[in-house]
Amino acid sequence: MAKPSVPNPGPVCVPCRLIAIGAAVLVLAGGFAYTAGWLTPARLTAPRFINTFEAVAGQPHPGYRRNHAKGLCIEGYFDSNGDGAALSSAAVFAPGRTPVTGRFAVPGGNPSAPDTSSPVRSLALLFQLQNGEQWRTGMNSTPVFAVHTPEQFYQQLVAAKPDPTTGKPDPAKLKAFYAANPETQPFQAWVKAHPPSSSLANAAYYSINAFRFTDGTGNTHAVRWAMVPETPYAPITDAEKAEKNFLEADLDQRLQNGPLRWHLILTVAKPGDPTNDATLQWPDDRQQVDAGTLVIDHTTSQANGTCRDVNFDPTILPAGIKPSDDPLLAARSAAYALSYKRRTREEALHPAVHQAQTNGDHS
Ligand code: HEM
Repeated sequence: MAKPSVPNPGPVCVPCRLIAIGAAVLVLAGGFAYTAGWLTPARLTAPRFINTFEAVAGQPHPGYRRNHAKGLCIEGYFDSNGDGAALSSAAVFAPGRTPVTGRFAVPGGNPSAPDTSSPVRSLALLFQLQNGEQWRTGMNSTPVFAVHTPEQFYQQLVAAKPDPTTGKPDPAKLKAFYAANPETQPFQAWVKAHPPSSSLANAAYYSINAFRFTDGTGNTHAVRWAMVPETPYAPITDAEKAEKNFLEADLDQRLQNGPLRWHLILTVAKPGDPTNDATLQWPDDRQQVDAGTLVIDHTTSQANGTCRDVNFDPTILPAGIKPSDDPLLAARSAAYALSYKRRTREEALHPAVHQAQTNGDHS
């Protein structure tokens, strides 16, 4: 049988190959350096965000989230009533039950901060869909965010850095930030008009950012969601204000009497409603769909619970839900990933970090 003819590659140019390899290494190294922000120190990168969160926290808290550091893990499930399927083909909206792992937290980088350190509470959830997909969401107890661009959020953090002489943020710097950024007013007005809730159980939690839902016929809808509690809202009491860690104790006590419930309310935008500005609410008359009930039945410590090693990246979504054009979403995804990387590395390298969390877990 005749041998197939192989084209002659010609003489090998060794220096050419070395130059090509060198060039490829340089391109890769350049890519890493660019991504890390070394070539463009003014560019807003995840390391700049996370380093600034660490600076605002004042001292290192190895193993903890760089924001919303104080928290606790929760377990439960979501009972879908099927009504959400009119807006999204995501399997989580078919009638039936989806297990949920989550986390309640308060904002800030200090895991030992008093519960009153922020008027905001947060609820993060991971829905584990039957088909293997996940829906992760991080929600806050305010319907709007203070700022609408990552750059503004970064500037707000810089303004909140502790003054080296007092160890506390300089109120003048924060005042100047708010004066220069009037977009922060709806958030401030909302917080002023709504005293923090007396419990994690009686707060509503909002996606704040908009998302794009695609229904079974291929139509898309801009949607924001909220978990609205069945437990009636009550404002924080004076006795609670004096307690450093009342939120977890209150939650545990309530759960002894049975599970806690929230309704997943989907709000649909009308054309023209802003999807890229988390500082602006949509008008009250927008269509709302109650898609089912979130049931939380027990808590675990954040040192050992299933939420510990979860990154509640809000862009991890099932088919049928996509991020909107809100610029905060991509910045959140990048910052959460780096926070996750640093804290899980600290846990892995220093088992004592984990032990310290277990002993001194203030969640
Ligand atoms: C550019 C804007 C934002 C940045 C840079 C940012 C940054 C962070 C970081 C670094 C964490 C810790 C993540 C981890 O280690 O797992 C975090 C947690 C969190 N953030 Fe944001 N955030 C932003 C906007 C928002 C918005 C708009 C919301 C509300 C919808 C939000 C809600 C949360 C919640 C609920 C958590 C806690 C998640 C958990 O319990 O694990 N964040 N954020």
